[in-house]
Amino acid sequence: MTILTINGTEISVEVDADTPLLWAIREEAGLTGTKFGCGIGQCGACTVLVNNQPVRSCSVPASALQGQAITTIEGVASAGQLNPVQQAWLEWDVPQCGYCQSGQIMVATALLKQAQHNTPPSTDFIKQQMNNICRCGTYNRILPAMHRAFELAQELADDATEQEG
Ligand code: FES
Ligand code: FES
Repeated sequence: MTILTINGTEISVEVDADTPLLWAIREEAGLTGTKFGCGIGQCGACTVLVNNQPVRSCSVPASALQGQAITTIEGVASAGQLNPVQQAWLEWDVPQCGYCQSGQIMVATALLKQAQHNTPPSTDFIKQQMNNICRCGTYNRILPAMHRAFELAQELADDATEQEG
């Protein structure tokens, strides 16, 4: 038995030593927002966060992640409020079929967490980091949506600072 911490909740899963995290999330935890694409670590559809870092869940065994903080697409909004990436994705109407989008949002959310206050990343950096595959070709909406997500995150941070002051 392996205890996984997914979206802040401990879940006990019955998995073999080499069962990919993806299947523990989908089949054991019942969280189906994380998608299966290639199964070989290439497409990014299965991306989740482990300790705030993007990880392709088809390519890492669940049994290795006991005690780590795993976040899936179901866990990025908080208190019913979309995170800045989700909000920006809506504003830019990014998804087409939607299949790759939970993975895209997880990578974008990790980038947002890593960004330095007041120094949003360059377009080149975003292009380099956002390397999940989208068969519908939504890349030219993902880029402006990423810039918008950083603006929204900045506004939230500024509001929080004002409230503290
Ligand atoms: S399903 Fe994991 S990278 Fe494609
Ligand atoms: S929106 Fe269809 S695969 Fe990306």
